[in-house]
Amino acid sequence: MRTTLLRRLHSQSPSAIAMRGVHHNRLSRTSSSSRSSSSSLIQHNQNNYNNHEISDLIHEYASKKQTTISLKDMMLMNSVSDTDHYQAREKRVLREQMLMQMATMLQEELPIRLAHRIQDLDSLAVLQEMPSVQQVRSTYLSSFLDLLDQPKPSSPQAEQDFGRLLQNLYQNHSNVLRQMARGVLELRFQQVQQQYPVMPLDHDHGLSMVDEAFLDRFYMSRVGIRVLAGQYLALRHQLLNDPLGKSIPKEYVGMINRKTSPSRVVQRAIEDATLLCHQQFGPGQAPKVQVSGKMQLTFCYIPTHLHYILLELIKNSMRATMEYHKDSEEKPPIRVVIADGTENEDVIIKVSDQGGGIPRSEMSKIWSYLFTTASPKVQQEFFNATKQLNGAIENGSVLAGLGYGLPLSRAYSRYFGGDLDLMSMEGYGTDAFCHLVRLADKAPLPV
Ligand SMILES: Nc1ncnc2c1ncn2[C@@H]1O[C@H](COP(=O)(O)OP(=O)(O)OP(=O)(O)O)[C@@H](O)[C@H]1O
Ligand SMILES: [Mg+2]
Repeated sequence: MRTTLLRRLHSQSPSAIAMRGVHHNRLSRTSSSSRSSSSSLIQHNQNNYNNHEISDLIHEYASKKQTTISLKDMMLMNSVSDTDHYQAREKRVLREQMLMQMATMLQEELPIRLAHRIQDLDSLAVLQEMPSVQQVRSTYLSSFLDLLDQPKPSSPQAEQDFGRLLQNLYQNHSNVLRQMARGVLELRFQQVQQQYPVMPLDHDHGLSMVDEAFLDRFYMSRVGIRVLAGQYLALRHQLLNDPLGKSIPKEYVGMINRKTSPSRVVQRAIEDATLLCHQQFGPGQAPKVQVSGKMQLTFCYIPTHLHYILLELIKNSMRATMEYHKDSEEKPPIRVVIADGTENEDVIIKVSDQGGGIPRSEMSKIWSYLFTTASPKVQQEFFNATKQLNGAIENGSVLAGLGYGLPLSRAYSRYFGGDLDLMSMEGYGTDAFCHLVRLADKAPLPV
């Protein structure tokens, strides 16, 4: 069941391509685009640069300002497939030019963003010493150097090479979230073990404020890097393999769907959360979910992001309902309301449950990474056998247990200028409000 769900969650991207992470030939290093594994890349790069050169480069790029990029820029390319009056040859040239433009923009921007993150990592006190965090740093450093090595994508051939490099980068970074979460657990277990001989069952050992703020910045920036790289790769795939939009619906521009339907995405999230709930509580054991409001509404958004947020909220509500009403046959339904008015700033989706709410003293902790009231077994298993839960954090493939659902969903909502709020009534239930900005209206994105 989990395999099917995971396959489904993965295949939701319109392009469903494996997407992976620019130019600076001033040290005229050899290109590394042919390598595939991140460790060999690191090896390669470290052979080519000495430590002094590396730290100079990081310093140089981290001192540059990160540029915000509008989603409108990213959607420009669609004009090529939209225009019928171009001849086939003109269309091909236009496509190539647009891909080169976009690749050039990414080649300038991505090393700056990666250098900022590396410098940020280096400023951390204890967390940076954790083995998994060091692996993350190596991945970032390796991609940073690879991008600098890559020739400027100013010809169709060079753009193709750049596309391949970015695909590898995207792939190599797919593990970063999991590695970072593991690094945070390494730190936490180390702190806990200094006080207790065995891991206690409480869940109060939070991170420092500095670490929390760092993680917020880090994950938000990661969303940005993946949106930029993912959008370029998805558009590339779309324009080169399906210029007439035969297999990919016309509403899709790369990862963005100009007509994202919240009610359809909610429906898929309900199905996925229900499967996970059955898995956890037994066959047929899941609260019903009622959806109401603007069922016909569509707006410009990235459906995979919306699905991630809604799945996390519905999973939380299902778990709370099942546990709070464990002794009653009939579980109170979860209610999802989709609100929007033509004059509204946002599309708002509310997920309400009667799962007993959250104590006021815990409200400030729910946004902390790794804060969970689920069994510590999930974190422990994740720590012991990270491979078994491969992708669990980003694919939401467990009902609860890592403590990443809420903070990451909030990072996804905030990235596009939206937000996520929770209101709780202890002894009754919780309302989660997800505010989403229509992307077409939104100019620059955060870095
Ligand atoms: N609807 C809800 N009702 C009651 N408690 C909730 C609700 N949503 C969240 N919580 C509380 O907030 C905690 C953190 O939620 P979060 O989604 O971040 O992590 P999690 O569900 O424990 O694990 P996962 O990473 O798998 O989502 C939960 O463990 C739970 O105690
Ligand atoms: Mg959760």
